[in-house]
Amino acid sequence: MITKKMEAALNEQINKEMYSAYLYMAMSADATEKGLDGFARWFMVQYHEEMFHAMKLYQYVVDQDGKVTLKGIKEPPATFSGIQEMFESTLEHEQFITKSINELVDLAIEEKDHATHNFLNWYVEEQVEEEKNDHDILAKLAMLSDSTKGPGIYMLDKEIGSRALTIPSDFSVDGFAEGVES
Ligand code: FEO
Repeated sequence: MITKKMEAALNEQINKEMYSAYLYMAMSADATEKGLDGFARWFMVQYHEEMFHAMKLYQYVVDQDGKVTLKGIKEPPATFSGIQEMFESTLEHEQFITKSINELVDLAIEEKDHATHNFLNWYVEEQVEEEKNDHDILAKLAMLSDSTKGPGIYMLDKEIGSRALTIPSDFSVDGFAEGVES
């Protein structure tokens, strides 16, 4: 079981992960609009990852006999000045999510909630990877003399577009159950 305070905090995190998915879907749509199909794919893979993060939290609350309560999802920006801004915003957002996960861990420790603390460790590790991905791409963008157009961005678009989806993207009941168990 989890306390009502922890239940509320986990529900807030579900909302943040859903917003993350929405934000990256918006970036994917904008990248498509700009003719950058590789970046569009990268952000759509990221969208699926965020949905998985949200659904993993959802299932945990249910498994702990808690109540999932959904709130409205904030509207993300519709357009970005370019790829550079997208990844700067992505890194900034992921740093915000990392802070949020750390606060959840703090609460779990405060409440001596070992099960939730253990569960959250997956997210702690995931955030290290998420921030690293963004740092790596920003470093590559910095290597290009003009990160908004030209052959460099064309080549990077090809590379970025090869990102594989490694988590389940099927949120039907059967597909989700498969993802949760894996
Ligand atoms: Fe679910 Fe990108 O943090």
